[in-house]
Amino acid sequence: MIPAEIIAQKRDGNPLSRENMKWFVESFTSGELPESQMASMLMAIYFNGLTEDETFALVEVMIASGEKLDFSQTTTPVVDKHSTGGIGDKISLILAPLLASAGLTLPMIAGRSLGHTGGTIDKLEAIPGFQAEVPLPKFKSWVDQIGCAIIGQTGEICTADKKMYALRDVTATVQSIPLICGSIMSKKIAEGINGLVLDVKTGSGAFMKTMEQAEQLGAWMKKIGTAFDVETDIVFTSMNQPLGQYAGVWCEVQESVDCLKDRGPKDTMDVTLALASKLMIQSKKAVDEKEAIAQLNRLISNGKAFDKFVEMVEIQGGDSSILEGNPCPPSDTINFYASKEGIIQSMDTEKIGWGMVEMGCGRKNPNDLIDFTAGVEFYHKIGSEVKKDEPIARLFNSNKSGIEKALIQFNDAIVLGDEPQDNKLILGSL
Ligand code: URA
Repeated sequence: MIPAEIIAQKRDGNPLSRENMKWFVESFTSGELPESQMASMLMAIYFNGLTEDETFALVEVMIASGEKLDFSQTTTPVVDKHSTGGIGDKISLILAPLLASAGLTLPMIAGRSLGHTGGTIDKLEAIPGFQAEVPLPKFKSWVDQIGCAIIGQTGEICTADKKMYALRDVTATVQSIPLICGSIMSKKIAEGINGLVLDVKTGSGAFMKTMEQAEQLGAWMKKIGTAFDVETDIVFTSMNQPLGQYAGVWCEVQESVDCLKDRGPKDTMDVTLALASKLMIQSKKAVDEKEAIAQLNRLISNGKAFDKFVEMVEIQGGDSSILEGNPCPPSDTINFYASKEGIIQSMDTEKIGWGMVEMGCGRKNPNDLIDFTAGVEFYHKIGSEVKKDEPIARLFNSNKSGIEKALIQFNDAIVLGDEPQDNKLILGSL
């Protein structure tokens, strides 16, 4: 095989054979093929897309590049949730223990920050001692013991995705429907689950900026799930503004605790319940959304969901005694003030996300360290009326110059005007 010839084929819009796709991805994973050639291939896929056959071949080779978990001996439904990524998206931290407390099994493999979006694993690692990088047998033993665990992608599972994800992040090739499909679906199928719900985000802070793109991505992922025997539900949600009152690192762990203690923000709970109820119905724990939500609310109000979160933190080595304290006090705080009186018309959530990357909530380079203290508290969102010089948000971290850079982004991102505005959060399902 000649790599440049295979790249040229995709560059010119011609489909790759299964053998070529397999050889290309396998050679990159084994280190035979240099990053430069995979980067060119990713860009060719970004511009020319993949056919159904090529997409299925990509998912297959990505799954085969690592190990697959086996839950065939587990008697409870084995399910998972994944989001296409956003700002303030802490749903996995709430949903995994909530559903495990309902008797479902969730072996959740989650991501780190990607582009302007935050990462579940970075947030969990703000809990002192929390281990998110462990060998698969240890992960499986945690899941078997308590019903849920959340780890980052190990080199053992979908090894190809681990390498390709890192390369996509630095080559501006994240926003490609077949590449997102390959990345998410290969990881989820390799977890050995029977059911899946995907939160496909759309809007200014999502990788899919329009509902049309989100619908295409959702339809593809559902098709792949079905082909690989994983019952897959899709929920479309808005990422036109950050989710919750807080976005960042440790502050999102605290807000997740608030949600599990029945005092979290409504938007975050609405999305959590919409997603979790799909898995309750798939698992035959509830006949419809109303019954599922009632059961889930009971598990929150009777403390079982929070207890499961504590159990998960402890089994993963984290210090649960500080969950309601603040082990990460920021040294710097600066408010972002309204430049005039008005109604918030829009929040360019991608710009807000890049501002947060400057603050240390994400990475500009793969080896950058996350600042666990970093985050934003939003006092106002779309449709809110503000007075001149009123604080719209509070930015905090332990590196003031990062906040100053973020303020420039916030200034561009948040638009004030006169029109009343609304932001519909749950946009549909598939
Ligand atoms: N999340 C993933 O796991 N992969 C992507 O490509 C995008 C979001």
